[in-house]
Amino acid sequence: MNIRVFRTPSDAGIYAASMLERVITSLERPVIGLATGETVIPVYDALVNFVRCGLNVSHVTTINLDEYVGLAPDHPQSYHQFMNEHLFSRIGIRMQSTHLPNGVAPDLAAECERYNEVIRNHPIDMQVLGIGVNGHIGFNEPSHALITGTHVVNLTPETIAMNARFFSRKEDVPRQAITMGIQSILQAKQIMLLAFGEHKADIIYRALKDGIRTDVPASILQLHKDVTVILDRQSAARLGL
Ligand code: GLP
Repeated sequence: MNIRVFRTPSDAGIYAASMLERVITSLERPVIGLATGETVIPVYDALVNFVRCGLNVSHVTTINLDEYVGLAPDHPQSYHQFMNEHLFSRIGIRMQSTHLPNGVAPDLAAECERYNEVIRNHPIDMQVLGIGVNGHIGFNEPSHALITGTHVVNLTPETIAMNARFFSRKEDVPRQAITMGIQSILQAKQIMLLAFGEHKADIIYRALKDGIRTDVPASILQLHKDVTVILDRQSAARLGL
C-alpha cells in the first residue's frame, strides 16, 4: 500500500483530487466510485476547484457506495442530498451519469440486484473510500462474514450513534442502509482510502497493520494491489512512519 501523510485534510484533499484528475483525463469513459462523510468533503471541494479551472467531467460516470434505507433522495440527510450539495450540483454533472442506491425502493432485494447490474456495466476505475471508526467501508459493517455484492445491512449501534450527529431527533437516525459489497469494492482498479483526525488513528492502525479480519472490514484492502492511503498526521499517528 502506498501511504501518504499530509499536514491538513485540505492538503490531502488536493492530492486526492489530483489522483482523480489523472483518471478522469486519461480515460475515455472513466468511472469513479464515490463515498460520503465528512472525510471526503475536502476532496470534493478540491475537485470542484479543478473543474472551475477547466477540468472536464462531462464524460465521467459516478457510482456511490451506499444510501440509507427509508430516506428518499430529497431527504436532507440522504446521501443523494450529500452528493448533490458537495459535488454534483457544483460540477454540473449530468444526473444520468450519477448512480446511488435507492433507499426507498419498494423491493429492496430487487434494488440490490439493479445496483449490482449498474456496477457490472460500469467497472470502477477509482474508488474513493472513507472509513468508519469501527472499520466499516461503505456500510460493510464488522461481522463474522463479509458480503460480496450489494446488500441491505443492519447498522451497528456504534454507527447509528456516530450518524446521530446529523439528525435532530435520535429516533430519526436510519437503522439500515443499502451498501455496495466488499467484492465490488475490491474489483475497483484503484482505491484511495482517506482518514483524518486522531479518532481514526486506532482503526487506521488496525486496518493497515493488524492482519485481515472480518471484524475490521477495511483490513481486506490489504489484498488489493493498488491502494493509496491518504491520511493527516493525526490519523497516521499509530503507524510509526
Ligand atoms: C459513513 C459512510 C462511510 C464513511 C464513514 C465515515 O458511515 N457510509 O462511507 O466512510 O461514514 O464517515 P466520516 O468521513 O464522516 O468520518
